[in-house]
Amino acid sequence: MIPRFDASSFKGITPEMREAFERDGVLVLDGLVSEAACDSLRKHMADMVTDFDVSAHRSVFSSTSEAHAQDQYFLQSGHETRFFLEEEAFDADGNITKPKELALNKVGHAMHDTDETFSAFARQEAFRTICEGLGHKQPLPLQSMYIFKQPHIGGEVVCHQDATYLRTEPETCLGIWVALEDATTENGCLYGIPGGHKTGGVRAAFRRTPGGDSTYTETLDDTPFDEDKKVPLPAPKGTVLVFGGLFPHMSSANRSDKSRHAYTLHVIDGAAHYPADNWLRRPEHLPLKGF
Ligand code: FE2
Repeated sequence: MIPRFDASSFKGITPEMREAFERDGVLVLDGLVSEAACDSLRKHMADMVTDFDVSAHRSVFSSTSEAHAQDQYFLQSGHETRFFLEEEAFDADGNITKPKELALNKVGHAMHDTDETFSAFARQEAFRTICEGLGHKQPLPLQSMYIFKQPHIGGEVVCHQDATYLRTEPETCLGIWVALEDATTENGCLYGIPGGHKTGGVRAAFRRTPGGDSTYTETLDDTPFDEDKKVPLPAPKGTVLVFGGLFPHMSSANRSDKSRHAYTLHVIDGAAHYPADNWLRRPEHLPLKGF
């Protein structure tokens, strides 16, 4: 049983929270973000989606479009705000079959630096306090995502560790996952493997090729994830889940008629080395900024 902490008047990471995080690999902080803050972030994203020109992007997302164009769109999203669509939102001919606000999979990955509202949300005091309380010396927001998990078509995310995608040496990635709506076993809440961060190391590294215009995944440790031990991590609106880069987690598809909007911020410690073959690169004019 993973403990839940009432964080509605969060003041910092307590010894009990730290113990739970180290033992289980995940920390459940109920009520950390207010419902009003969840609603205003959702409203802001709805406005961004209104401005998003889906027809201009159709060629990139279509399942029949070139893998190369999709790669470039993704690889440049490390320092921009880009929109990614659900595969199931297209028919066999590559035509979009849903209104755009119901076809998006996610928006990422640099809103915390390119957008004022997202910057303020990412840099809220509680998030800095969490990172410092869990050992970061110089917490640096690296990646943000707004995840829609749409009704009926929100796709499955298979079991993985975030340290595969955001690598530092030593490993310092912290994921801060915020339920902007109630996340339940019906609409695709997260699942995780308690203690799984201590079973084997990081299984794989997702790297940029030396030329920089493509990516590949290298297997580092073939210990299988103990998926029989996974538990659901239901999260009422405003709950924050915090987990390290080695914590194995996943979510099932959303076949319900309710959306499951969530926000994630990934933070690394600036005191660690950030290898140049990480997929997420920032150009010189947009370096990572702290809290
Ligand atoms: Fe993840």
